[in-house]
Amino acid sequence: MKIPNPILTLFILFNPPLVLAIIETCLESVCQDGEPQIRFPFLIKGKHAEPCGYPGFMVSCTQNSQTLLNLPNWGPLKIRTINYAAQQLWVNDPNNCLPKRLISLNLSTSPFRAVYLQQFTFFNCSANLENLVHRYRPIGCLSDSPKYVVFATPSTTVVGHLSSLCHLVARVKVPVQSPFYDQVTSSELGEDLRLSWDSPACGRCESRGGRCGFKSDDTFELDCSGVPSKGRSRISRYAIAICIGVPAMLCFFGVLSCICRWLKVGNHDGPWGHESVADFEALVGSRPTTVSGLDRPTIESYPKIVIGENRRLPKKGEKRCSICLSEYMPKETVKSIPECGHCFHAQCIDEWLPLNASCPICRTSPRKFPQPRARSSP
Ligand SMILES: *[C@@H]1O[C@H](CO)[C@@H](O)[C@H](O)[C@H]1NC(C)=O
Ligand SMILES: *[C@@H]1O[C@H](CO)[C@@H](O)[C@H](O)[C@H]1NC(C)=O
Repeated sequence: MKIPNPILTLFILFNPPLVLAIIETCLESVCQDGEPQIRFPFLIKGKHAEPCGYPGFMVSCTQNSQTLLNLPNWGPLKIRTINYAAQQLWVNDPNNCLPKRLISLNLSTSPFRAVYLQQFTFFNCSANLENLVHRYRPIGCLSDSPKYVVFATPSTTVVGHLSSLCHLVARVKVPVQSPFYDQVTSSELGEDLRLSWDSPACGRCESRGGRCGFKSDDTFELDCSGVPSKGRSRISRYAIAICIGVPAMLCFFGVLSCICRWLKVGNHDGPWGHESVADFEALVGSRPTTVSGLDRPTIESYPKIVIGENRRLPKKGEKRCSICLSEYMPKETVKSIPECGHCFHAQCIDEWLPLNASCPICRTSPRKFPQPRARSSP
């Protein structure tokens, strides 16, 4: 909090509600219900005070309440999702023509970088249109005249073909969502871009349920507060209940059986015989396995895709959901695990991941790779 003059300081000192109000300006906020939650290191212009966020993480709300991230050399981007724990965000073009923006992509002066890069070549073609459009998928929002069409492709074969026929517009390294996108899907280039940031490193604090922020006004030193000491989620509470409850119950029966035996000295074995005590001890020693899944915000942040009429998925050859074993149908929503790119029905994987923090197909554990591996090159 910056308090610019002594009169204001006095005013604040004698007005506790105002002090509260100023502290609260750093609380999480949204542009509108359903839009991404904005908190440190991001801040909303006009809703948060300057010290509530990190330089370069300024967000603004449009008149129709979209959440825009303003990048210094590249203009505004619509924020779709933020994963604070993984320090990643998904963005798109507020004017729904992402390919147009990609032609002039420049992340060099922003705090963000790509997680996965894929090179695309853009062509502007004005001859032989009927033939080309039949063969490749033009970018609709860039091909608004009957005189020319614009294509973008990651395929070297297609680049070879189009180079001789069309005008090369640009070669762009696009921050795609996963390294597994096949060429048919990605040539549309409309899907959200996936970006990440390295600094400030609040991911660990966030994943432990804490609140990240500046220690004080004058330094960029970070502080993590409010990390809960106990497991909070319902699942972890159940896990604890099982881990402690079951052995405790077994102990209780064990002690009970000892007392029974002691009471029946001289008699032969009752229902709790010699061996049963050893059995109980063995059982008490072997604890049930802990349920360990992913947290809601992480699961929520995974990219969703609505299946088109052609039923194509980012990963080729996936025709059915490996969890429910039913085939994907057009208009169904699928979700992919960013680390391996495997897709499942959104509702199936939403039920799976809170219980198992691993991909049902390849057992890749999303939590083990919170940091992206590929790096962007400027
Ligand atoms: C991106 O912007 C910076 C700063 O204006 C400039 O120096 C750099 O050349 C630009 N990069 C590209 C690829 O345009
Ligand atoms: C494609 O070329 C036409 C002229 O032939 C031009 O008007 C148009 O702006 C170009 N589009 C792009 C994206 O380069």
